[in-house]
Amino acid sequence: MSKSDEIKQQILDLVRAYYAETFGDEPFVPGETAVPVSGKLFDAAEMTNLVDSSLEFWLTTGRYADQFERELARTVGVRHASLCNSGSSANLLALTALTSPSLGDRQLRPGDEVVTVAAGFPTTVNPIIQNQLTPVFLDIDLDTHNIAVENLADAVTPRTKAIMLAHTLGNPFNLDVVMEVANQHDLWLVEDNCDALGSTYNGRVTGSFGHLATSSFYPAHHITTGEGGAVFTNRPQLKKIVESFRDWGRDCWCPPGVDNTCGKRFEWQLGDLPYGYDHKYIYSHIGYNLKMTDMQAAVGLAQLKKLPEFIAARKRNWQRLYDGLKPFEEFLILPQPTPSSDPSWFGFLLTVRPGAPFSRNQIVGYLEERKIATRLLFGGNLIRQPAYQNIPHRVVGPLTNTDIVMNLTFWIGVFPGLTPAMIDYILETFTAFFSHAA
Ligand SMILES: Cc1ncc(COP(=O)(O)O)c(C=O)c1O
Repeated sequence: MSKSDEIKQQILDLVRAYYAETFGDEPFVPGETAVPVSGKLFDAAEMTNLVDSSLEFWLTTGRYADQFERELARTVGVRHASLCNSGSSANLLALTALTSPSLGDRQLRPGDEVVTVAAGFPTTVNPIIQNQLTPVFLDIDLDTHNIAVENLADAVTPRTKAIMLAHTLGNPFNLDVVMEVANQHDLWLVEDNCDALGSTYNGRVTGSFGHLATSSFYPAHHITTGEGGAVFTNRPQLKKIVESFRDWGRDCWCPPGVDNTCGKRFEWQLGDLPYGYDHKYIYSHIGYNLKMTDMQAAVGLAQLKKLPEFIAARKRNWQRLYDGLKPFEEFLILPQPTPSSDPSWFGFLLTVRPGAPFSRNQIVGYLEERKIATRLLFGGNLIRQPAYQNIPHRVVGPLTNTDIVMNLTFWIGVFPGLTPAMIDYILETFTAFFSHAA
């Protein structure tokens, strides 16, 4: 073993010792210990990977990223995973890829319509607006919190070119109907799978249905890299376009630190550039730089190994909450998995029944005072948000349920950091609230 390997070994051993000393379990004290909606779960494996990649000091995307991409693609069951620096960037890249001139008559052009829902996360919709496309907003249903598919066929016009939807809080949208409409009208489908890593529909993993799909690795998500995301596709052409937009818009596809992957670096003739202009500096798209660092990928790789147990814990926690809250259905609309799906849940959504003898603010306030964290379903009805007041858009059908969600829905956590004692405490707190409300 070389001297430097020996030192590295000592450092990594110390990191393990540091982890054991610093990040032990705190005892849970009901009413005092926070019960968050989400959080990162890690151990010495993530920390040693992170330090190992730091010691290599490659810094930009590198060998850990290559391995993370390969293993992610295998997990989702697609040919290609392209890492980037957030789920929002992944959404931006996925939709922007469809504006590439190299797609010929399938290219999305300004003014084309993209079907989505108004009840969602802003950066599922923002790439549509950022690309001067027109979002077409549909309502959701109150059981699955996903697109109400009844109006989907009616939403399609000759200008409609794509559908871009998230699997809400891990619950897959109705892929049978959405895929059918997409196939029938030759529409692109982009799955925002940011909240649904590991969900299945008809036994197949979500993120593998759309032409493109995305993941987020923000700490709230199923696995984390701190900041991070990925774009998935089965099509080599789309992968190449995504990576071009991600990497400054360049035409060259060499990984960082590598030259002449194409074997003709100084023999290209593109645009009006002189023959032989260095391919590294030829740009075929108006791009960004949204790459992930190798330190982030190193953490992600260790996280990915834990994904199966994380998913199992999320499902277990969801089921315990569902069983425990079932007696209170007169007050609350409980979430339902989409038929044919097995969600890898992100959170537990609850809607206060219209006419219940308490408001959402009252129940949310009661829970928060008792240290049980809550969240709303992101932006509620996005078109009522200040940023969206003046955007060009179309609405198909009433957004009745979207407004109900904006006014009456909230969610609590199911993440693997919630212990059985915490779930018991959550259920006891709801029971105490309803004993006053009834
Ligand atoms: C459905 C959905 N899409 C996209 C994102 C954006 O991911 P990120 O925070 O990594 O940008 C989120 C974030 O939580 C999300 O919930």
